[in-house]
Amino acid sequence: MKAAIVGTGYVGLVTGTCFAEIGVNVICVDTNSEKIEALKKGVIPIYESGLEEMVNRNVKAGRLHFTTSLESCLNDVEVVFSAVGTPPDEDGSADLSYVLEVARTIGRNMQKYMLVVTKSTVPVGTAKKVRAAIQEELDKRGVNIGFDVASNPEFLKEGNAINDFMSPDRVVVGVESERAKKIMSKLYKPFLLNNFRVIFMDIPSAEMTKYAANSMLATRISFMNDIANLCELVGADVNMVRSGIGSDTRIGRKFLYPGIGYGGSCFPKDVKALIKTAELNGYQMRVLHAVEEVNESQKSILFNKLCKHFNNDLKGKTIALWGLAFKPETDDMREAPSLVLIDKLLKAGCKVRAYDPAAMDECRRRIGESIYYAKDMYDAVLDADAMMLVTEWKEFRLPSWAVIKKTMEQPVVLDGRNIYDKKDMEEQGFSYHCIGH
Ligand code: UDX
Repeated sequence: MKAAIVGTGYVGLVTGTCFAEIGVNVICVDTNSEKIEALKKGVIPIYESGLEEMVNRNVKAGRLHFTTSLESCLNDVEVVFSAVGTPPDEDGSADLSYVLEVARTIGRNMQKYMLVVTKSTVPVGTAKKVRAAIQEELDKRGVNIGFDVASNPEFLKEGNAINDFMSPDRVVVGVESERAKKIMSKLYKPFLLNNFRVIFMDIPSAEMTKYAANSMLATRISFMNDIANLCELVGADVNMVRSGIGSDTRIGRKFLYPGIGYGGSCFPKDVKALIKTAELNGYQMRVLHAVEEVNESQKSILFNKLCKHFNNDLKGKTIALWGLAFKPETDDMREAPSLVLIDKLLKAGCKVRAYDPAAMDECRRRIGESIYYAKDMYDAVLDADAMMLVTEWKEFRLPSWAVIKKTMEQPVVLDGRNIYDKKDMEEQGFSYHCIGH
């Protein structure tokens, strides 16, 4: 089986490489020639554990190829996955120009039946637009070639993408013909050994599933952040409440961790896009408006705690940040709470010393030299008046507190991810603040 994957961003590259791994002959397409040249040499544009080895292995085996020209490979494949970006427009709706350009290129060049699968997260109704764009080009050419469109949303998490792709909870596929269903079944069959399900449905439902899943998860996080803030006021411990409610199988244990707000490329964008889709259809997503509002204010929670600790006297204070990425195992800083925090600290006249195991270059690219980039976590806390744990990287879990206490100007720790034990920290002489306790 041969497939083309258009877009070598996060989703496209992981999808292409994982399909190659199970034996599909894959050609990854991107208009960015620098990226394609780098990929041919085995240089991966993103930070994702295990991906580089897998790309190289499959390139060597002759199952994974890279090109800048969709036209040139289109008629060699049975199925084309479109995984190009859908950046948010100014009003929050997804910009479909890349998705539709791929559709038009296919329509201009296809010579035989083709299945065109959208993997990018796109609003409900996009498949119809993709179909219309392909058909328009075929009509211009005056040819009558059959094709199908399908929707196959991606649920992979950054930092765990390969595992999520290889052993997913489920694969959701929206189709409108038996022929398309057959091709998608064949393609995903090797994964059936891992005992997971392909859920076939109509296309609008598949498109909606992705937004509903991410919005539900974002809702859980904002809900838990609200509960955590209330726990502080009433003298409860949110960690206890979390175990208490998570053991109810109807609720489940995952995605109940309070913190400093969700970030990343998906949750913020998808929540906004779903609110927008509802508005366009004359409906208000009241819950999701609240989810966004809670998330925005939660990004300031560590800063507010810092103000309270120092009685609003932050000018000239040195603050250490451990972690910059929006979550561990990635260098991604899209919508990262650290950006809001840094902005507030600098405006309040603080000096910031930051360390992240992977996201230092990305942070430099975004905010330049306005902060000090520390050599390691211990260098970050040098002469600091407070340390803020922003991203829960594994290497931050068991630091040498005795060394840190000596290195810091004042032993103050604000833990934005609740990874340390309050009692333990206080016994070691730290003034310790966390979320919801
Ligand atoms: C998410 C979805 O999980 C994935 O299915 C989808 O395809 C893309 O969006 P990702 O953005 O990579 O994946 O990160 P995820 O691990 O889901 O975390 C998202 C955000 O929620 C992070 O900022 C994380 O810190 C936060 N989070 C997560 C919490 O604050 N509490 C939790 O309990 C879980």
